[in-house]
Amino acid sequence: MTKMEYQNLLLSESNGIYRITFNREKALNALNGQTMKELFHLFSDFLPSQSPLKGVILTGSGEKAFVAGADIKEFLSIESGKGGDMAQNGHDVFSLIENFHVPVLAAINGFALGGGCELAMSCHLRIASENARFGQPEINLGIIPGYGGTQRLIQYIGKTKAMQLMLTGDLFSAEDALKWGLLNQVVPANELLSVSEALLGRIAEKAPVAVSAVIASVNAFFNSPGDGFKTEVNQFAKTTQTSDFLEGAQAFIEKRQPKFTGA
Ligand code: COA
Repeated sequence: MTKMEYQNLLLSESNGIYRITFNREKALNALNGQTMKELFHLFSDFLPSQSPLKGVILTGSGEKAFVAGADIKEFLSIESGKGGDMAQNGHDVFSLIENFHVPVLAAINGFALGGGCELAMSCHLRIASENARFGQPEINLGIIPGYGGTQRLIQYIGKTKAMQLMLTGDLFSAEDALKWGLLNQVVPANELLSVSEALLGRIAEKAPVAVSAVIASVNAFFNSPGDGFKTEVNQFAKTTQTSDFLEGAQAFIEKRQPKFTGA
């Protein structure tokens, strides 16, 4: 599949930073099966083959929603006994995003509910517009968050709040999400994309191997408890074998900006 064949994702690129827009505005950008297939292809095939690739922004079309969840209209056609497959597929896609080697930033322009909140939580960074609203309302549909939400929400906001929110299905504001540690920043809606691009632009100037190593090391803390420190040692060792490592030290000593190449 080339990017031209995506039906529900719009792609644009500038200086190695890709903007991916969920493009089902009438359905509040709900994640249907086709969108999940496209997301998987995007992160497993298309983006890894791009160069330069410095960062990825995920956002939603329109002013109302980032992603309002999994597509509830498709729920009724899920074959009996296939719910686990659906959740596993979601885990596979979101795990690809969480472990992607360049930063993925969710620019949350409205509702981030259910799978939309879970998608945002699988990204490395989250910036929201002031009107954004969050929640895991699956309990209202008789199900639970199935794309990693029960695990990741706890990581960000702690067990006490996560338990209550998932048991009640209550939505919460961007202001609360920031206060509780789910978000990096909240900005006026008309600044969302420029602020997001600026943050990824700053990170794009860092040494690429070190950027990937931070992502892998931080994730390791959560993925395999106890293994994070070991991963950090290994990833640190990897960065010290690069010429960017030498360039970084040299530039510091010479009081100039480093020129990183990724080697
Ligand atoms: N899946 C499929 N379609 C969805 C959807 C979802 N998760 N969320 C919204 N839509 C559709 C609506 O069915 C509606 O389509 P229609 O015009 O064909 O009826 C359209 O998007 C607009 O949504 P609507 O509900 O009319 O907008 P609203 O402003 O009244 O409410 C929400 C917005 C987000 C509060 C409401 O749409 C909602 O609760 N959505 C479901 C959220 C959810 O439970 N997500 C978890 C799913 S596991």
